[in-house]
Amino acid sequence: MTLLDRIAPAILPENRPPVLKTERLVLRAPRLDDAPALVPLIGDRRVAENLSRVPHPYSLKDAETFLASANRNDEQVSFVVTLHDGTLVGGCGVGPFMGEHPEIGYWYGVPHWGRGYATEAARALIDYAFNDRGYEALEGGARVTNPASRRVLENCGYVWTGVILLPVRALGGVSVPADRFRLDRERWLAHVETSARYPINRS
Ligand SMILES: CC(C)(COP(=O)(O)OP(=O)(O)OC[C@H]1O[C@@H](n2cnc3c(N)ncnc32)[C@H](O)[C@@H]1OP(=O)(O)O)[C@@H](O)C(=O)NCCC(=O)NCCS
Repeated sequence: MTLLDRIAPAILPENRPPVLKTERLVLRAPRLDDAPALVPLIGDRRVAENLSRVPHPYSLKDAETFLASANRNDEQVSFVVTLHDGTLVGGCGVGPFMGEHPEIGYWYGVPHWGRGYATEAARALIDYAFNDRGYEALEGGARVTNPASRRVLENCGYVWTGVILLPVRALGGVSVPADRFRLDRERWLAHVETSARYPINRS
């Protein structure tokens, strides 16, 4: 019996997030058999060094541990992101991190960068966070050397609030400067009204 077989039954159905569909993407709960597709994507140093909690190198066991623990409590919601044909391209989630309000996080495999996937999925994730989870505000962050991530947040209406030092596990715990952002529910609703790109599809 594998680690996954032992732990997976403990994932409660009520903690399983819904499936969110966008024009090109599907956001769904991580599955135990996602591990082999996950490893080469999140195992790329260019991805890991921009995330605070992801180890590098990233092993199959790391993936299995993550998948086994995903969505086991109601606080932290994790999705994998796939194309409509099922190809896994990245992941995202929302939950408590370091600030007063829950935070969104996301990553995409390098071969899938630059196609607007992060922005498209973030909009669906934020819509879920405000509408289904009832949050009043969301936080977000990006290393100051990560303009693409900053743009994702700005594309979604986030406002810059300051700079912190963020420890990065893939850098051996070294702290690096990171911008912080915030999005209030009212601002999000106004932003959705005026933004024609990546319309929210609640199918
Ligand atoms: C950051 C990341 C999620 C972006 O994913 P993506 O799917 O390529 O993002 P998008 O295609 O939606 O592009 C987002 C914006 O960044 C811009 N962008 C991309 N690369 C850029 C760069 N090097 N400099 C400036 N802007 C850049 C895009 O033009 C786009 O802006 P626009 O919508 O105004 O045209 C992806 O690079 C990634 O996974 N990086 C590693 C993990 C990570 O950084 N996660 C976020 C942690 S805070």
